Amino acid sequence: MKHETFHYKSREEFRRKLQELGADIPLAEDTGALFKPLGRLPNRIVFQPMEGCDGGTDGSVGELALRRYIREAEGGAGLLWFEAVAIVPEGRANPRQPWLTEKTLESFQRTVDQVKEAGIRKNGYAPVMILQATHSGRYSRPEGVPAPLVAYLNPLFEKNAPLLPDRVVSDGYLDSLPEYYGKTAMLAEKAGFDGVDIKCCHRYLLSELLSAYNRPGKYGGSLENRARLLLQGIEAANAATGRDFIKTCRLNLYDAFPYPFGFGTDLREGSDRRDPGELNTLVSWLTGRGVGLLNTSMGNPYVNPHVNRPYDLGGYTPEEHPLEGVARMIAGVRELSARFPELSVIASGLSYLREFAFPAAAALVESGGAALAGFGRESFAYPAFPNDLREGKLDRKKLCVACSKCTELMRAGSVTGCVLQDKEIYLPLYRTHCMKK
Ligand SMILES: Cc1cc2nc3c(=O)[nH]c(=O)nc-3n(C[C@H](O)[C@H](O)[C@H](O)COP(=O)(O)O)c2cc1C
Repeated sequence: MKHETFHYKSREEFRRKLQELGADIPLAEDTGALFKPLGRLPNRIVFQPMEGCDGGTDGSVGELALRRYIREAEGGAGLLWFEAVAIVPEGRANPRQPWLTEKTLESFQRTVDQVKEAGIRKNGYAPVMILQATHSGRYSRPEGVPAPLVAYLNPLFEKNAPLLPDRVVSDGYLDSLPEYYGKTAMLAEKAGFDGVDIKCCHRYLLSELLSAYNRPGKYGGSLENRARLLLQGIEAANAATGRDFIKTCRLNLYDAFPYPFGFGTDLREGSDRRDPGELNTLVSWLTGRGVGLLNTSMGNPYVNPHVNRPYDLGGYTPEEHPLEGVARMIAGVRELSARFPELSVIASGLSYLREFAFPAAAALVESGGAALAGFGRESFAYPAFPNDLREGKLDRKKLCVACSKCTELMRAGSVTGCVLQDKEIYLPLYRTHCMKK
């Protein structure tokens, strides 16, 4: 159904719209399920990784990032999934993306210490912290090194800017990367993180490889080949860290691009119908390597961002209704949880739902449709919502309105955060970088 902006004033009105759309988004009567501990997690609320583009050029964690994570810890979320951190300099998404090395280790250590301390001081518990280790591949924008680096040439992505074949990474280059995943995991453990995510979503390098159906050699063709680097990354992290250190992955369940250019479809030429066949095989390989927690996502933030994060305002108006987008994400997560009952699956893409995100998340957790609920844009807008929700003090005026200004700031090369709710810092930047003079 056609796109429209969010306008639901009551739960009844919201339910009516869901019915009209045939969008299956469950709503619990109360949100208590979100505040039940799970293993070492004090509650079920996860703050998703959100790049602030605010690190030092040397890869250290910047002051604004530290401020963000302290606010998030004080807000009460049980798990903070630290933003994408590069494993190698040529894989940095921007010249200020954090990069964990022996030289920057101290800044990461200081950050983790201060963030955990802030949680303990305010709430009596420290959030669990997982570092997202990444190679940005096609979206690498480092300074002074040739970029981008792609898994294969892709006419869907290169319509306006064709790439030369020398931008395709060689098998030899890919062979060199597991060592860096292992090293990043080892340093993350040293820094005090509780786990590492071998990032495989949103069409950054590992995620793009999953759809390298036509790439020749040992990283293309069969699923085993396409998943080779992801699995080796997990194995390298296993070898480099202790048993209790969490090894996990943020995985694209579905790219929403037609075969042979997208992972998670039914493998018929030109089809973009979601089909979890290969996904289920891949997840069984991950669980076989000790992965017990899986974060999820779909789509790509550049070419089909409405799949990745349904919005009211964005770079284009999609054909799809945003609630259909949220329902797709929920369907994928429920299917995976049903198929792998021992796996703790994290739901994603809920921020669009405003105040209905919390009963939706609670319904998913209550029913076993997901073990945990992740919030990305909401963590920028309203980092204190977990405590406010638990105490019955949720303030609707503070909620994310899916306006995409955080993305606009990022695309304009600025540091980013919530322009509407964290005005003092980000509104002046928005005026400078994004508004016409
Ligand atoms: C500004 C911005 C930065 C992001 N940075 C990351 C990131 O570093 N790693 C990642 O996996 N996803 C990243 N995402 C995606 C979010 O984690 C999340 O999947 C997306 O916003 C949808 O969830 P939501 O509806 O809760 O916002 C980013 C999204 C935005 C808007």
